[in-house]
Amino acid sequence: NQDQFKKVVSHAKEYGYIFGSSEIYDGLSAVYDYAQNGVELKKNIRDYWWNSMVRMHQNIVGIDAAILMHPTTWKASGHVDAFNDPLIDNKDSKKRYRADVLIEDYAEKLNQKVQKEVAKARKRFGDSFDEAQYVTTNPRVVGYIEKQKSVLERMARSLEKEDLADVKALIEELGIADPDTGSKNWTDVKQFNLMFGTKLGASAESATDLYLRPETAQGIFVNFLNVQKTGRMKIPFGIAQTGKAFRNEIVARQFIFRMREFEQMEMQFFVRPGEEIKWYEYWKETRLNWHLSLGMGKENYRFHDHEKLAHYANAATDIEFNFPFGFKELEGIHSRTDFDLKAHEKHSGKKLQYFDHEINENYTPYVVETSIGLDRMFLAVLSNSLQEETLEDGSSRTVLKLPFILAPTKVAVLPLLKKDGLPEIAQEIIDDLKWEYNVQYDEKDAVGRRYRRQDAAGTPFCITVDHQTKEDRTVTLRNRDTMEQQRLPIEMLLETLKKHFSM
Ligand code: GAP
Repeated sequence: NQDQFKKVVSHAKEYGYIFGSSEIYDGLSAVYDYAQNGVELKKNIRDYWWNSMVRMHQNIVGIDAAILMHPTTWKASGHVDAFNDPLIDNKDSKKRYRADVLIEDYAEKLNQKVQKEVAKARKRFGDSFDEAQYVTTNPRVVGYIEKQKSVLERMARSLEKEDLADVKALIEELGIADPDTGSKNWTDVKQFNLMFGTKLGASAESATDLYLRPETAQGIFVNFLNVQKTGRMKIPFGIAQTGKAFRNEIVARQFIFRMREFEQMEMQFFVRPGEEIKWYEYWKETRLNWHLSLGMGKENYRFHDHEKLAHYANAATDIEFNFPFGFKELEGIHSRTDFDLKAHEKHSGKKLQYFDHEINENYTPYVVETSIGLDRMFLAVLSNSLQEETLEDGSSRTVLKLPFILAPTKVAVLPLLKKDGLPEIAQEIIDDLKWEYNVQYDEKDAVGRRYRRQDAAGTPFCITVDHQTKEDRTVTLRNRDTMEQQRLPIEMLLETLKKHFSM
Protein backbone atom coordinates (compact mmCIF):
# COMPACT_ATOMS: atom_id res chain seq x y z
CA ASN A 1 0.00 0.00 0.00
CA GLN A 2 1.00 3.60 -0.63
CA ASP A 3 1.52 4.49 3.04
CA GLN A 4 3.97 1.65 3.52
CA PHE A 5 5.76 2.71 0.33
CA LYS A 6 6.10 6.30 1.57
CA LYS A 7 7.51 5.00 4.85
CA VAL A 8 10.09 2.94 3.00
CA VAL A 9 11.21 5.95 0.95
CA SER A 10 11.61 8.25 3.94
CA HIS A 11 13.22 5.54 6.08
CA ALA A 12 15.74 4.92 3.30
CA LYS A 13 16.82 8.53 3.50
CA GLU A 14 16.68 8.97 7.28
CA TYR A 15 18.83 5.91 7.97
CA GLY A 16 21.47 6.56 5.32
CA TYR A 17 20.38 4.06 2.68
CA ILE A 18 19.40 6.14 -0.34
CA PHE A 19 19.56 9.82 -1.26
CA GLY A 20 18.21 11.50 -4.36
CA SER A 21 20.99 12.31 -6.82
CA SER A 22 22.43 15.86 -6.57
CA GLU A 23 19.78 16.82 -4.02
CA ILE A 24 21.22 20.28 -3.38
CA TYR A 25 20.17 21.10 -6.95
CA ASP A 26 16.71 19.59 -6.34
CA GLY A 27 17.72 16.21 -7.64
CA LEU A 28 17.64 14.46 -10.98
CA SER A 29 14.52 12.48 -11.74
CA ALA A 30 14.81 8.69 -11.40
CA VAL A 31 18.50 8.86 -10.46
CA TYR A 32 19.63 7.97 -6.92
CA ASP A 33 22.74 7.76 -4.76
CA TYR A 34 23.46 4.95 -2.33
CA ALA A 35 24.43 6.29 1.06
CA GLN A 36 26.70 4.85 3.75
CA ASN A 37 24.37 2.00 4.72
CA GLY A 38 22.87 1.56 1.26
CA VAL A 39 26.22 0.92 -0.35
CA GLU A 40 26.89 -1.91 2.12
CA LEU A 41 23.47 -3.49 1.66
CA LYS A 42 23.85 -3.26 -2.10
CA LYS A 43 27.29 -4.85 -1.95
CA ASN A 44 26.00 -7.65 0.27
CA ILE A 45 23.17 -8.43 -2.18
CA ARG A 46 25.63 -8.39 -5.08
CA ASP A 47 28.04 -10.70 -3.21
CA TYR A 48 25.22 -13.04 -2.25
CA TRP A 49 24.26 -13.30 -5.92
CA TRP A 50 27.85 -13.59 -7.15
CA ASN A 51 28.73 -16.33 -4.67
CA SER A 52 25.65 -18.36 -5.48
CA MET A 53 26.26 -18.06 -9.22
CA VAL A 54 30.02 -18.03 -9.72
CA ARG A 55 31.47 -19.65 -6.63
CA MET A 56 28.82 -22.34 -6.25
CA HIS A 57 28.91 -23.36 -9.91
CA GLN A 58 32.18 -24.77 -11.24
CA ASN A 59 30.97 -24.10 -14.79
CA ILE A 60 30.14 -20.41 -14.35
CA VAL A 61 32.77 -17.67 -14.55
CA GLY A 62 32.49 -13.90 -14.26
CA ILE A 63 33.54 -10.96 -16.40
CA ASP A 64 33.33 -7.19 -16.14
CA ALA A 65 32.79 -5.72 -19.61
CA ALA A 66 32.89 -2.00 -20.39
CA ILE A 67 29.78 0.16 -20.35
CA LEU A 68 30.76 1.65 -23.73
CA MET A 69 30.69 -0.78 -26.63
CA HIS A 70 31.14 -0.65 -30.38
CA PRO A 71 27.95 0.92 -31.75
CA THR A 72 27.24 -1.99 -34.11
CA THR A 73 26.60 -4.10 -30.99
CA TRP A 74 23.28 -2.33 -30.54
CA LYS A 75 22.32 -2.65 -34.17
CA ALA A 76 22.94 -6.41 -33.96
CA SER A 77 21.12 -6.84 -30.66
CA GLY A 78 18.02 -5.12 -32.04
CA HIS A 79 18.14 -2.24 -29.55
CA VAL A 80 18.59 0.51 -32.16
CA ASP A 81 15.48 -0.56 -34.03
CA ALA A 82 13.26 -2.02 -31.36
CA PHE A 83 14.17 -0.93 -27.83
CA ASN A 84 11.19 1.39 -27.60
CA ASP A 85 8.41 2.26 -25.19
CA PRO A 86 5.01 3.56 -26.31
CA LEU A 87 4.65 7.11 -25.01
CA ILE A 88 1.62 9.28 -24.59
CA ASP A 89 1.44 12.93 -23.50
CA ASN A 90 -1.38 14.62 -21.71
CA LYS A 91 -2.20 17.84 -23.54
CA ASP A 92 -3.41 19.63 -20.40
CA SER A 93 -0.88 18.61 -17.79
CA LYS A 94 1.98 18.38 -20.34
CA LYS A 95 3.03 15.23 -18.53
CA ARG A 96 4.41 12.24 -20.33
CA TYR A 97 3.47 8.65 -19.56
CA ARG A 98 4.16 5.16 -20.77
CA ALA A 99 0.96 4.11 -22.47
CA ASP A 100 1.45 0.45 -21.51
CA VAL A 101 2.00 1.35 -17.85
CA LEU A 102 -1.21 3.43 -17.75
CA ILE A 103 -3.09 0.40 -19.06
CA GLU A 104 -1.31 -2.00 -16.70
CA ASP A 105 -2.21 0.24 -13.76
CA TYR A 106 -5.83 0.13 -14.87
CA ALA A 107 -5.65 -3.67 -14.96
CA GLU A 108 -4.03 -3.72 -11.51
CA LYS A 109 -6.95 -1.69 -10.13
CA LEU A 110 -9.31 -4.38 -11.40
CA ASN A 111 -7.15 -6.91 -9.65
CA GLN A 112 -7.41 -4.94 -6.42
CA LYS A 113 -11.19 -4.93 -6.75
CA VAL A 114 -11.10 -8.71 -7.01
CA GLN A 115 -8.92 -8.93 -3.89
CA LYS A 116 -11.34 -6.67 -2.02
CA GLU A 117 -14.36 -8.80 -2.94
CA VAL A 118 -12.47 -11.95 -1.96
CA ALA A 119 -11.56 -10.48 1.42
CA LYS A 120 -15.15 -9.43 2.04
CA ALA A 121 -16.50 -12.85 1.10
CA ARG A 122 -13.95 -14.60 3.26
CA LYS A 123 -15.10 -12.55 6.23
CA ARG A 124 -18.72 -13.35 5.47
CA PHE A 125 -18.34 -17.10 4.90
CA GLY A 126 -15.56 -17.81 7.39
CA ASP A 127 -14.01 -21.28 7.37
CA SER A 128 -16.28 -22.62 4.66
CA PHE A 129 -15.01 -20.05 2.12
CA ASP A 130 -13.68 -21.59 -1.07
CA GLU A 131 -11.69 -18.90 -2.91
CA ALA A 132 -11.11 -20.91 -6.09
CA GLN A 133 -14.81 -21.54 -6.45
CA TYR A 134 -15.76 -17.97 -5.58
CA VAL A 135 -13.57 -16.33 -8.20
CA THR A 136 -14.95 -18.59 -10.93
CA THR A 137 -18.64 -18.22 -10.05
CA ASN A 138 -19.36 -14.81 -8.51
CA PRO A 139 -20.58 -12.78 -11.50
CA ARG A 140 -19.06 -9.47 -10.40
CA VAL A 141 -15.65 -10.99 -9.71
CA VAL A 142 -15.72 -13.02 -12.92
CA GLY A 143 -16.51 -9.78 -14.75
CA TYR A 144 -13.48 -8.00 -13.27
CA ILE A 145 -11.16 -10.89 -14.08
CA GLU A 146 -12.39 -11.20 -17.65
CA LYS A 147 -12.13 -7.49 -18.22
CA GLN A 148 -8.60 -7.46 -16.87
CA LYS A 149 -7.62 -10.31 -19.14
CA SER A 150 -9.14 -8.80 -22.24
CA VAL A 151 -7.55 -5.38 -21.60
CA LEU A 152 -4.06 -6.85 -21.19
CA GLU A 153 -4.48 -9.15 -24.18
CA ARG A 154 -5.62 -6.35 -26.43
CA MET A 155 -2.71 -4.17 -25.34
CA ALA A 156 -0.18 -6.96 -25.96
CA ARG A 157 -1.69 -7.61 -29.40
CA SER A 158 -1.65 -3.97 -30.43
CA LEU A 159 1.91 -3.45 -29.20
CA GLU A 160 3.07 -6.53 -31.03
CA LYS A 161 1.52 -5.30 -34.25
CA GLU A 162 2.82 -1.77 -33.48
CA ASP A 163 -0.78 -0.61 -33.79
CA LEU A 164 -0.26 2.51 -31.69
CA ALA A 165 -3.60 4.00 -32.74
CA ASP A 166 -5.32 1.08 -31.07
CA VAL A 167 -3.29 1.57 -27.88
CA LYS A 168 -4.61 5.13 -27.75
CA ALA A 169 -8.14 3.94 -28.56
CA LEU A 170 -7.91 1.50 -25.65
CA ILE A 171 -6.84 4.25 -23.25
CA GLU A 172 -9.79 6.37 -24.37
CA GLU A 173 -12.30 3.52 -24.22
CA LEU A 174 -11.23 2.66 -20.68
CA GLY A 175 -11.53 6.32 -19.70
CA ILE A 176 -8.00 6.39 -18.28
CA ALA A 177 -7.14 9.81 -16.86
CA ASP A 178 -3.88 11.56 -16.05
CA PRO A 179 -3.08 10.16 -12.56
CA ASP A 180 -2.12 13.64 -11.34
CA THR A 181 -4.75 15.91 -12.83
CA GLY A 182 -7.61 13.68 -13.97
CA SER A 183 -7.45 15.07 -17.50
CA LYS A 184 -8.37 12.72 -20.34
CA ASN A 185 -7.01 14.92 -23.11
CA TRP A 186 -4.37 12.64 -24.67
CA THR A 187 -2.03 12.99 -27.64
CA ASP A 188 -1.34 10.13 -30.03
CA VAL A 189 0.92 7.31 -28.86
CA LYS A 190 4.43 7.26 -30.30
CA GLN A 191 7.50 5.06 -29.96
CA PHE A 192 10.43 6.34 -27.94
CA ASN A 193 13.88 4.72 -27.97
CA LEU A 194 15.22 4.18 -24.45
CA MET A 195 18.95 4.22 -25.17
CA PHE A 196 21.12 7.09 -23.96
CA GLY A 197 23.37 8.37 -26.71
CA THR A 198 26.82 9.87 -26.20
CA LYS A 199 29.81 10.86 -28.32
CA LEU A 200 33.29 9.44 -28.62
CA GLY A 201 36.06 11.61 -29.99
CA ALA A 202 37.63 15.03 -29.57
CA SER A 203 36.16 17.06 -32.40
CA ALA A 204 32.53 17.33 -33.43
CA GLU A 205 33.29 16.23 -37.02
CA SER A 206 35.15 13.09 -36.14
CA ALA A 207 32.97 12.07 -33.23
CA THR A 208 31.29 8.67 -33.25
CA ASP A 209 27.83 8.14 -31.85
CA LEU A 210 27.85 5.67 -28.99
CA TYR A 211 25.29 4.39 -26.52
CA LEU A 212 25.49 3.76 -22.83
CA ARG A 213 24.64 0.06 -22.57
CA PRO A 214 20.94 -0.56 -21.83
CA GLU A 215 21.72 -4.08 -20.57
CA THR A 216 24.88 -5.86 -19.49
CA ALA A 217 24.09 -9.01 -21.49
CA GLN A 218 25.66 -7.87 -24.77
CA GLY A 219 29.08 -7.54 -23.11
CA ILE A 220 28.80 -11.25 -22.41
CA PHE A 221 27.65 -12.25 -25.90
CA VAL A 222 30.47 -10.44 -27.67
CA ASN A 223 32.98 -12.08 -25.30
CA PHE A 224 31.49 -15.55 -25.58
CA LEU A 225 34.32 -17.03 -27.63
CA ASN A 226 37.09 -15.21 -25.72
CA VAL A 227 35.89 -16.68 -22.43
CA GLN A 228 35.16 -20.12 -23.87
CA LYS A 229 38.64 -20.43 -25.42
CA THR A 230 40.77 -18.86 -22.66
CA GLY A 231 38.78 -20.50 -19.86
CA ARG A 232 38.62 -23.79 -21.79
CA MET A 233 34.93 -23.90 -20.96
CA LYS A 234 32.83 -26.88 -21.97
CA ILE A 235 29.15 -26.54 -22.76
CA PRO A 236 26.99 -26.20 -20.73
CA PHE A 237 28.66 -23.21 -19.07
CA GLY A 238 27.74 -19.74 -17.90
CA ILE A 239 29.18 -16.22 -17.84
CA ALA A 240 28.05 -13.90 -15.07
CA GLN A 241 28.36 -10.16 -14.76
CA THR A 242 27.16 -7.31 -12.58
CA GLY A 243 27.27 -3.71 -13.64
CA LYS A 244 25.56 -0.49 -14.55
CA ALA A 245 22.99 -0.17 -17.33
CA PHE A 246 21.22 2.95 -18.55
CA ARG A 247 17.73 3.51 -19.89
CA ASN A 248 16.00 6.78 -20.61
CA GLU A 249 12.89 5.55 -18.80
CA ILE A 250 9.68 7.50 -18.58
CA VAL A 251 9.00 7.15 -14.89
CA ALA A 252 6.54 8.23 -12.29
CA ARG A 253 7.17 8.05 -8.55
CA GLN A 254 8.50 4.55 -8.35
CA PHE A 255 11.62 5.35 -6.35
CA ILE A 256 14.38 2.86 -7.22
CA PHE A 257 11.99 0.41 -8.90
CA ARG A 258 12.55 2.01 -12.30
CA MET A 259 15.68 4.13 -12.63
CA ARG A 260 17.55 5.76 -15.48
CA GLU A 261 20.89 4.49 -14.19
CA PHE A 262 20.74 1.11 -12.50
CA GLU A 263 22.68 -2.06 -11.94
CA GLN A 264 21.97 -5.49 -13.36
CA MET A 265 23.16 -8.92 -12.29
CA GLU A 266 23.00 -11.15 -15.32
CA MET A 267 24.11 -14.63 -16.24
CA GLN A 268 24.10 -16.14 -19.71
CA PHE A 269 24.13 -19.92 -19.77
CA PHE A 270 25.28 -21.50 -23.04
CA VAL A 271 23.75 -24.86 -23.88
CA ARG A 272 23.44 -27.41 -26.66
CA PRO A 273 20.53 -26.57 -29.01
CA GLY A 274 17.53 -28.66 -28.05
CA GLU A 275 18.50 -28.73 -24.36
CA GLU A 276 17.46 -25.16 -23.64
CA ILE A 277 14.07 -25.92 -22.12
CA LYS A 278 15.60 -28.33 -19.63
CA TRP A 279 18.06 -25.61 -18.54
CA TYR A 280 15.37 -22.97 -18.56
CA GLU A 281 13.41 -25.08 -16.04
CA TYR A 282 16.59 -25.62 -14.01
CA TRP A 283 17.30 -21.88 -13.76
CA LYS A 284 13.69 -21.05 -12.96
CA GLU A 285 13.83 -23.33 -9.97
CA THR A 286 17.37 -22.38 -8.94
CA ARG A 287 16.68 -18.67 -9.05
CA LEU A 288 13.43 -18.95 -7.10
CA ASN A 289 15.26 -20.98 -4.45
CA TRP A 290 17.90 -18.25 -4.22
CA HIS A 291 15.16 -15.76 -3.37
CA LEU A 292 13.49 -18.12 -0.91
CA SER A 293 16.80 -18.73 0.88
CA LEU A 294 16.64 -15.15 2.16
CA GLY A 295 13.52 -15.98 4.15
CA MET A 296 11.37 -13.08 2.94
CA GLY A 297 8.19 -15.20 2.68
CA LYS A 298 7.27 -17.73 0.03
CA GLU A 299 3.91 -16.02 -0.46
CA ASN A 300 5.68 -12.87 -1.71
CA TYR A 301 6.95 -14.48 -4.93
CA ARG A 302 5.21 -15.75 -8.00
CA PHE A 303 6.13 -16.68 -11.54
CA HIS A 304 4.58 -14.81 -14.41
CA ASP A 305 5.13 -16.90 -17.53
CA HIS A 306 5.06 -14.83 -20.71
CA GLU A 307 2.47 -15.90 -23.23
CA LYS A 308 3.63 -13.40 -25.81
CA LEU A 309 7.33 -13.87 -26.43
CA ALA A 310 9.93 -11.46 -27.73
CA HIS A 311 11.16 -12.34 -31.22
CA TYR A 312 14.37 -13.89 -29.83
CA ALA A 313 12.84 -16.01 -27.06
CA ASN A 314 11.18 -19.42 -27.03
CA ALA A 315 10.30 -19.32 -23.32
CA ALA A 316 10.31 -16.53 -20.74
CA THR A 317 9.13 -15.92 -17.21
CA ASP A 318 9.37 -13.21 -14.58
CA ILE A 319 9.85 -13.81 -10.90
CA GLU A 320 7.49 -11.24 -9.45
CA PHE A 321 7.75 -9.88 -5.92
CA ASN A 322 5.06 -8.43 -3.73
CA PHE A 323 6.26 -4.81 -3.54
CA PRO A 324 4.28 -2.25 -1.49
CA PHE A 325 2.59 -1.27 -4.78
CA GLY A 326 1.70 -4.85 -5.72
CA PHE A 327 3.30 -7.81 -7.49
CA LYS A 328 5.86 -6.58 -10.04
CA GLU A 329 8.75 -8.02 -12.01
CA LEU A 330 11.92 -8.53 -10.00
CA GLU A 331 13.86 -10.91 -12.22
CA GLY A 332 13.56 -12.30 -15.73
CA ILE A 333 14.52 -15.77 -16.95
CA HIS A 334 14.62 -16.05 -20.71
CA SER A 335 15.40 -18.79 -23.16
CA ARG A 336 16.97 -16.59 -25.88
CA THR A 337 17.77 -19.30 -28.43
CA ASP A 338 20.81 -18.54 -30.64
CA PHE A 339 19.40 -15.13 -31.53
CA ASP A 340 22.16 -12.98 -30.04
CA LEU A 341 25.18 -15.02 -31.06
CA LYS A 342 23.82 -15.43 -34.60
CA ALA A 343 23.13 -11.68 -34.85
CA HIS A 344 26.66 -10.79 -33.72
CA GLU A 345 28.08 -13.37 -36.09
CA LYS A 346 26.17 -11.76 -38.96
CA HIS A 347 27.13 -8.16 -38.11
CA SER A 348 30.78 -8.83 -37.20
CA GLY A 349 31.56 -11.47 -39.80
CA LYS A 350 33.28 -13.48 -37.02
CA LYS A 351 32.27 -17.07 -36.34
CA LEU A 352 30.81 -17.46 -32.84
CA GLN A 353 30.50 -21.22 -32.77
CA TYR A 354 31.47 -24.05 -30.49
CA PHE A 355 32.88 -27.44 -31.34
CA ASP A 356 31.25 -30.05 -29.14
CA HIS A 357 33.69 -32.96 -28.80
CA GLU A 358 31.09 -35.21 -27.23
CA ILE A 359 28.90 -35.23 -30.31
CA ASN A 360 31.54 -34.17 -32.83
CA GLU A 361 29.53 -31.19 -34.00
CA ASN A 362 29.95 -27.48 -34.56
CA TYR A 363 27.02 -25.32 -33.53
CA THR A 364 25.89 -21.92 -32.30
CA PRO A 365 24.97 -22.46 -28.65
CA TYR A 366 21.54 -21.61 -27.29
CA VAL A 367 21.33 -19.26 -24.32
CA VAL A 368 19.29 -19.28 -21.15
CA GLU A 369 19.59 -15.98 -19.32
CA THR A 370 18.82 -14.96 -15.74
CA SER A 371 18.63 -11.20 -15.27
CA ILE A 372 17.86 -9.35 -12.04
CA GLY A 373 17.99 -5.66 -11.20
CA LEU A 374 20.21 -5.09 -8.16
CA ASP A 375 18.39 -1.90 -7.20
CA ARG A 376 15.04 -3.59 -7.58
CA MET A 377 16.23 -6.42 -5.35
CA PHE A 378 17.40 -3.77 -2.88
CA LEU A 379 13.90 -2.29 -2.86
CA ALA A 380 12.35 -5.74 -2.36
CA VAL A 381 14.62 -6.39 0.63
CA LEU A 382 14.16 -2.94 2.15
CA SER A 383 10.38 -2.80 1.80
CA ASN A 384 9.92 -6.35 3.07
CA SER A 385 12.14 -5.73 6.09
CA LEU A 386 10.68 -2.47 7.37
CA GLN A 387 8.25 -3.28 10.16
CA GLU A 388 6.35 -1.46 12.86
CA GLU A 389 6.03 -3.66 15.95
CA THR A 390 3.88 -3.33 19.02
CA LEU A 391 5.73 -4.61 22.05
CA GLU A 392 4.38 -6.39 25.11
CA ASP A 393 4.34 -3.19 27.18
CA GLY A 394 2.18 -1.50 24.54
CA SER A 395 4.98 0.68 23.13
CA SER A 396 6.01 0.37 19.52
CA ARG A 397 9.30 0.14 17.66
CA THR A 398 10.43 0.49 14.08
CA VAL A 399 12.67 -2.36 13.08
CA LEU A 400 14.40 -3.15 9.81
CA LYS A 401 14.42 -6.93 9.81
CA LEU A 402 16.98 -7.37 7.05
CA PRO A 403 18.14 -10.93 6.45
CA PHE A 404 21.22 -11.18 8.73
CA ILE A 405 23.51 -12.00 5.83
CA LEU A 406 22.57 -8.78 4.01
CA ALA A 407 22.63 -6.32 6.93
CA PRO A 408 25.10 -3.43 6.34
CA THR A 409 26.35 -3.38 9.91
CA LYS A 410 26.38 -6.78 11.57
CA VAL A 411 27.22 -5.68 15.12
CA ALA A 412 27.11 -2.41 17.06
CA VAL A 413 29.28 -2.09 20.15
CA LEU A 414 27.89 0.23 22.81
CA PRO A 415 29.64 1.33 25.99
CA LEU A 416 26.98 2.00 28.62
CA LEU A 417 28.73 5.24 29.57
CA LYS A 418 31.32 7.43 27.88
CA LYS A 419 33.70 7.03 30.83
CA ASP A 420 35.20 4.66 33.40
CA GLY A 421 37.22 2.86 30.72
CA LEU A 422 34.12 1.43 29.02
CA PRO A 423 34.83 3.03 25.58
CA GLU A 424 38.31 1.50 25.64
CA ILE A 425 36.93 -2.01 26.21
CA ALA A 426 34.39 -1.41 23.44
CA GLN A 427 37.24 -0.47 21.11
CA GLU A 428 39.11 -3.67 22.00
CA ILE A 429 36.03 -5.69 21.08
CA ILE A 430 35.71 -3.84 17.79
CA ASP A 431 39.35 -4.56 16.99
CA ASP A 432 38.67 -8.26 17.56
CA LEU A 433 35.51 -8.46 15.48
CA LYS A 434 36.24 -6.11 12.60
CA TRP A 435 38.19 -8.74 10.66
CA GLU A 436 35.06 -10.88 10.42
CA TYR A 437 32.23 -8.37 10.48
CA ASN A 438 31.28 -4.84 9.66
CA VAL A 439 31.16 -3.38 13.19
CA GLN A 440 30.01 0.04 14.35
CA TYR A 441 30.70 2.00 17.52
CA ASP A 442 27.89 4.02 19.09
CA GLU A 443 28.18 5.96 22.35
CA LYS A 444 25.64 8.77 21.97
CA ASP A 445 22.34 8.87 23.96
CA ALA A 446 20.88 6.45 26.50
CA VAL A 447 21.42 2.83 25.66
CA GLY A 448 17.69 2.19 25.07
CA ARG A 449 17.67 4.85 22.37
CA ARG A 450 20.77 3.41 20.83
CA TYR A 451 19.07 0.00 20.63
CA ARG A 452 16.11 1.57 18.84
CA ARG A 453 18.41 3.35 16.41
CA GLN A 454 20.26 0.14 15.58
CA ASP A 455 16.92 -1.72 15.22
CA ALA A 456 15.75 0.86 12.70
CA ALA A 457 19.05 0.73 10.82
CA GLY A 458 18.78 -3.06 10.62
CA THR A 459 21.78 -4.07 12.77
CA PRO A 460 21.27 -7.69 13.87
CA PHE A 461 23.28 -7.52 17.14
CA CYS A 462 24.26 -5.01 19.80
CA ILE A 463 27.01 -5.68 22.29
CA THR A 464 26.85 -3.60 25.46
CA VAL A 465 29.85 -2.97 27.67
CA ASP A 466 28.99 -2.02 31.28
CA HIS A 467 30.66 -1.83 34.68
CA GLN A 468 30.35 -5.57 35.24
CA THR A 469 32.46 -6.04 32.13
CA LYS A 470 35.38 -4.49 33.97
CA GLU A 471 35.07 -7.05 36.75
CA ASP A 472 34.38 -10.28 34.88
CA ARG A 473 34.96 -9.51 31.17
CA THR A 474 31.39 -10.36 30.22
CA VAL A 475 29.11 -8.28 27.97
CA THR A 476 25.48 -8.47 26.87
CA LEU A 477 24.58 -9.54 23.35
CA ARG A 478 21.18 -8.30 22.19
CA ASN A 479 19.31 -9.82 19.26
CA ARG A 480 17.48 -7.32 17.00
CA ASP A 481 14.52 -9.59 16.24
CA THR A 482 13.86 -11.29 19.58
CA MET A 483 15.29 -8.39 21.65
CA GLU A 484 16.67 -11.07 23.97
CA GLN A 485 19.84 -10.26 25.84
CA GLN A 486 22.41 -12.82 26.72
CA ARG A 487 25.35 -12.31 29.07
CA LEU A 488 28.54 -13.93 27.85
CA PRO A 489 32.33 -13.63 28.10
CA ILE A 490 34.03 -11.41 25.51
CA GLU A 491 36.05 -14.46 24.45
CA MET A 492 32.82 -16.21 23.38
CA LEU A 493 31.61 -13.38 21.12
CA LEU A 494 33.17 -14.46 17.83
CA GLU A 495 32.04 -18.04 18.14
CA THR A 496 28.52 -17.06 19.20
CA LEU A 497 28.12 -14.55 16.38
CA LYS A 498 29.40 -17.08 13.87
CA LYS A 499 26.68 -19.48 14.96
CA HIS A 500 23.98 -16.83 14.52
CA PHE A 501 25.20 -15.73 11.11
CA SER A 502 25.47 -19.23 9.74
CA MET A 503 21.82 -19.97 10.52
N1 GAP B 1 19.19 -8.86 -20.58
C1 GAP B 1 17.80 -8.94 -20.33
C2 GAP B 1 17.24 -7.71 -19.75
O1 GAP B 1 17.88 -6.69 -19.64
P1 GAP B 1 15.02 -6.74 -18.73
O2 GAP B 1 13.74 -7.45 -18.37
O3 GAP B 1 14.94 -5.58 -19.62
O4 GAP B 1 15.95 -7.88 -19.37
C3 GAP B 1 16.14 -7.32 -16.46
O5 GAP B 1 15.77 -6.34 -17.40
C4 GAP B 1 15.95 -6.82 -15.05
O6 GAP B 1 16.62 -5.58 -14.88
C5 GAP B 1 14.51 -6.55 -14.68
O7 GAP B 1 13.87 -7.72 -14.22
C6 GAP B 1 14.66 -5.52 -13.57
O8 GAP B 1 14.90 -6.16 -12.33
C7 GAP B 1 15.91 -4.77 -13.96
N2 GAP B 1 15.56 -3.48 -14.59
C8 GAP B 1 15.22 -3.26 -15.88
N3 GAP B 1 15.01 -1.95 -16.09
C9 GAP B 1 15.23 -1.32 -14.92
C10 GAP B 1 15.18 0.04 -14.49
N4 GAP B 1 14.88 1.03 -15.33
N5 GAP B 1 15.47 0.33 -13.19
C11 GAP B 1 15.80 -0.67 -12.34
N6 GAP B 1 15.87 -1.96 -12.69
C12 GAP B 1 15.59 -2.30 -13.96
